[in-house]
Amino acid sequence: MKGAKVAVVEYRELGGVCLNRGCIPSKALIASASQYKNMKEAEAFGIHLSAPPVYDWLAMRARKDKIVATLVGGIGQLFKSHGVTHYQGFGRLTSPNHVTVTDEHGGETKLRADNIIIATGSRPISIPAFPIDGSRILTSDHLLELPSLPKSILIIGAGVIGCEWAFMLSLLDVEVHMVEMLDHALPMEDINTSTLIERELKKLKVALHTKTKVEAFGGGPEGIQARLSSGKTIDANLALVSVGRAFNTEELGLEEVGVELNKNRSVKTGPDMRTNIPNIYAIGDVRGEILLAYTAVHDGSVAVANCMGEKAAKNYLGVPSVIFTHPEVGSVGMTEAEAVKEHEIAIGKFPLRALGKAQAENEIAGEVKVIGDKKTDQLLGVHIVGIHATEIIHAAALAINQKLTVRQLGSLIFGHPVISESIMEAAHDLHGESVHLARKRA
Ligand code: NAI
Repeated sequence: MKGAKVAVVEYRELGGVCLNRGCIPSKALIASASQYKNMKEAEAFGIHLSAPPVYDWLAMRARKDKIVATLVGGIGQLFKSHGVTHYQGFGRLTSPNHVTVTDEHGGETKLRADNIIIATGSRPISIPAFPIDGSRILTSDHLLELPSLPKSILIIGAGVIGCEWAFMLSLLDVEVHMVEMLDHALPMEDINTSTLIERELKKLKVALHTKTKVEAFGGGPEGIQARLSSGKTIDANLALVSVGRAFNTEELGLEEVGVELNKNRSVKTGPDMRTNIPNIYAIGDVRGEILLAYTAVHDGSVAVANCMGEKAAKNYLGVPSVIFTHPEVGSVGMTEAEAVKEHEIAIGKFPLRALGKAQAENEIAGEVKVIGDKKTDQLLGVHIVGIHATEIIHAAALAINQKLTVRQLGSLIFGHPVISESIMEAAHDLHGESVHLARKRA
């Protein structure tokens, strides 16, 4: 679009992790699990089913594959329409201006470019304590392709991937055990969010063991037996290891060309996405700052602007976190623990059960929490657990991005009845002015 001649080197399918092994396939399966849940709850909506609903995992997988194939094909079409050349093969830098592409037959193509952008991403971390074998001890990549669902699973790590899979599998009637070494599920989120999500996990009978590690694995071909640091043992058919991701910086020729890496082997860049070599840029997970597809897109536009001689820098103010649990999580800005380090804070809250639309949807679990600075009223953070949280958080994200006050956020006239009214109500509650909450006694 900016007039450059562009080549993209990719050795697998176009679309990377997000499209092929991450965001999109997992959300397609989560949508199937939600439909199944809704059908099981049909009576609550006044619908009588003649038999209990039955799901077909392979049909769910086929639906997911079709969605992925459509979107991957779409990228190919976009490349054609924008004149981008795709080289299928593994790219390796041989100089700050040269990349050699090796295809699956060993054939080599040498490319020369004024600017090079490294966007090689990340992969599930592999650590000796959890010997991933692809049959019993798995990563989320393996789960997406399971031939059938297990009766039970042990999930190690209650972060984003662990929690999304815990809810999805549990909704599909799989018995789920989780082990998390920190104090809470979703430990990087606000404590309110972690607590509400833990409550929902409990309702689904997910056994969550926090402040716990897996010390050893045993078991046979039928399943695993995990010995926990608490002394307990857990038997399950499969284990999912979701304890973080590693950066794809090996065999790219980065060190040979002199590109500086961080201690954790991610690529070091400035806010302009430049590495220490001025015409080599890095974007997305491989930079190790935020591992999200949508910040990677932002990084990409910053890098491209700089490649084309403009002056651009990243702006991560108001990047939301969206987690597809059930109910969903959407958050932006500071957690309470972060905010109290720098501010005297005020908090407003609004429970979804007080909302007409949540009652109509039969989805009343969750709450909105708004954090503001007590003196200046600056909006510091918004943390939502509830139906459509991943969508409605963007109103709050814009408010944080535009440095609004809590009162400004609450002054918007929201539609009615909608779930996002809960943001307005929580903002009003921070000033003790939510008319839809019972008055607090002094
Ligand atoms: P994560 O960093 O979100 O969670 C890993 C969890 O494992 C942490 O809670 C950590 O305390 C725990 N842990 C680490 N070592 C452990 C051990 N030995 N025993 C027990 N617990 C242990 O990483 P995750 O879930 O693998 O996700 C990777 C990345 O992908 C994240 O950065 C996440 O933001 C991103 N992602 C984003 C999604 C979204 O935006 N909806 C969806 C899926 C992934």
